[in-house]
Amino acid sequence: MVCALAIAGSISSTMAITKDEDASMQKSPPSVSSVPFGQLDDGREVSLYRLVNANGMEMAVTPYGGTIVSLKVPDDEGNLDDIVLGFDHLEDYLAPAYQRANPYFGALIGRYGNRIAGASFSIDGKTYRLPANDGDNHLHGGTQGFDRRLWQAQAFEEEHAVGLLLTLESPDGDQGYPGTLRAQVRYTLTDDNALDIRYEASTTATTPVNLTQHSYFNLDGEGSGDILAHRLMINASGFTPVDDALIPLGDVRSLDNSPLDFRTPVAIGSRIDEDDQQLLRGKGYDHNFVIDRGEAAAEELVLAARVEAPRSGRVMEVYTSEPGIQFYSGNFLDGSLTGKSGVPYQQRSGFALETQHYPDSPNQPDFPSTLLTPEETYLSHTRYVFSSVPQ
Ligand code: GLA
Repeated sequence: MVCALAIAGSISSTMAITKDEDASMQKSPPSVSSVPFGQLDDGREVSLYRLVNANGMEMAVTPYGGTIVSLKVPDDEGNLDDIVLGFDHLEDYLAPAYQRANPYFGALIGRYGNRIAGASFSIDGKTYRLPANDGDNHLHGGTQGFDRRLWQAQAFEEEHAVGLLLTLESPDGDQGYPGTLRAQVRYTLTDDNALDIRYEASTTATTPVNLTQHSYFNLDGEGSGDILAHRLMINASGFTPVDDALIPLGDVRSLDNSPLDFRTPVAIGSRIDEDDQQLLRGKGYDHNFVIDRGEAAAEELVLAARVEAPRSGRVMEVYTSEPGIQFYSGNFLDGSLTGKSGVPYQQRSGFALETQHYPDSPNQPDFPSTLLTPEETYLSHTRYVFSSVPQ
């Protein structure tokens, strides 16, 4: 039985499961291995880690941006398909412009997931200016956000799981944010087909923090067409309506009688073209939903969303400790990018469900605070659980 060691640096570049063992894949213990993925301009080597669980479900992650490059998940008959959009080569992830060349495929987002209006905020009367990389506003941590950093990586194995621990030190003043921020993200692939993500951070000066994961999913397989027939449930009775630039207006609006109401599962495409001001502003769905957390404690996982694919029957459930989730229906994809399958990613060929605090919280006194003080530890926990229903 071949089983790769879990210590980063000494991981063999040989695949952990050999051909002969493919047949007995169901019974193989979880494993982790790594191969070279390329080099940054400054010469730093970048690897690609391959994590496999006992069911053969596998995930490839690169420490560049903490990016999930592929996620192969079984359907009801055990067929594996790669269900996240992305590229085969590191160079494609390095492409500069954000919306068109690499729209954050699979990346970790920091220091602040989503938008900050006017690319600035104030703490105790002092104003901090950030890069404006989305019109006048700041998006996903700036031009050199955490999606553009080479994280330190350490692989690990547990009895029924395998994972990768990523760490990053963001210096004081990084992208305009105060304080040195030490961030840690722990990806764990469990034998019950869950991808568990734990985020942790500490700071030397008070600063906003809102970390998230920006995978685009197509549960029938990336490159298999649009996601409009996926049936979505979002456990939210309110959302934060936005202006034309997708900046929250400041209130939480009820979803009663709205085409954004997903409390009852419905196909993503069934109302997406309705003449609704919020859908028109988002060019589809690109909104923060306020999760119905009931009496759940802040650190408790609550079901935020469930998605079922029309052809494969794959199901993804998203559980989170966060108060919000951004549902983005891939509206800015326009066919100009070709991904792993060799098929251009047309509009709405993937969707993102980004667990988070609300957008623009640093400028919105009524939203839950995103400020982290040096006395506190930032903790956030999200779990994507995969299963399938018979077709
Ligand atoms: C987020 C935003 C979208 C878009 C994508 C990246 O999900 O909400 O508006 O910017 O990132 O293309």
